[in-house]
Amino acid sequence: MTMNSVKEEASSRFEHPLAGKVVAVTGAASGIGREVARVFSEAGASVAALDINDDALGDLERSFGCRTFHCDVTNAEAVSQAFDAIGASFGRLDILVSNAGSAQQGPIGDLPMEDLRRSFELNFFGHQNACQAAVRLFRRKGEGGSILFNISNQSVNPGKDFGPYGIPKAATMALMKQYALDHGKEGIRANGVNAGRIRTGLMTDQMIVERAEARGITPHDYMSGNLLGVEVFARDVADAFLHLAQMEKVNAVVLTVDGGAIATSLR
Ligand SMILES: NC(=O)c1ccc[n+]([C@@H]2O[C@H](COP(=O)([O-])OP(=O)(O)OC[C@H]3O[C@@H](n4cnc5c(N)ncnc54)[C@H](O)[C@@H]3O)[C@@H](O)[C@H]2O)c1
Repeated sequence: MTMNSVKEEASSRFEHPLAGKVVAVTGAASGIGREVARVFSEAGASVAALDINDDALGDLERSFGCRTFHCDVTNAEAVSQAFDAIGASFGRLDILVSNAGSAQQGPIGDLPMEDLRRSFELNFFGHQNACQAAVRLFRRKGEGGSILFNISNQSVNPGKDFGPYGIPKAATMALMKQYALDHGKEGIRANGVNAGRIRTGLMTDQMIVERAEARGITPHDYMSGNLLGVEVFARDVADAFLHLAQMEKVNAVVLTVDGGAIATSLR
């Protein structure tokens, strides 16, 4: 091998570190999931994008060349079928970014039980449905795999009246540790990201204005209320997932991506 070809190979590995890898992203049609689909595609991975929003999935296919799968992660049977289709389409799965979620609010003592259960279906059981289906695909190749959970810094620093969101997120952090513990010997890693306030479909511009007004601060100060004093973007969260996907000896770790706050920092 000549020096030039060594450099070319290294440069292509640097530019496309995930070439040959297949990643499934749930909730890929909007916000953080969409950025994950973009950065993993840019890194050379083949991306299977799952969501319930078919129009936005179509856009994702056109924009980044993802293969798209209509899939409600709260429906275990539908998840199983979607992952079978991913296996048939790509022949393998290397990485799952379990991202789909939404934020519910309400004071925990007054909350209709049904609201809490609905949130658990998406923000906890949705992850479990996707993970079980991914483990089945990882095992087919026998090469292990990487599960990446989109948790939230609410899992360690609950917000007032955000119980229906933060409690299943805390359970999802426990789920991450359980996958690392039970499946590490099979070469399956499990890690997570705890993001802070990110401008997406879940945290809209209007919500940001309302919350800032309620606190008597500007939307800019609300979004950059962290130790660095800067806004954190969906792209920053997607980059964290990309790095975790490549850190082959990192397991059972939560990376906090919120610009820093002592209340959300982990030991
Ligand atoms: N935005 C934030 O401030 C923030 C902070 C921390 C963590 N998160 C987490 O990031 C993840 C993504 O949220 P986002 O902020 O990008 O929101 P978003 O609303 O922009 O995107 C969520 C996506 O999930 C999809 N989805 C919803 N229910 C689904 C289901 N049952 N099956 C499949 N797909 C479904 C939606 O269609 C949408 O495309 C969530 O798990 C959320 O809890 C968000």
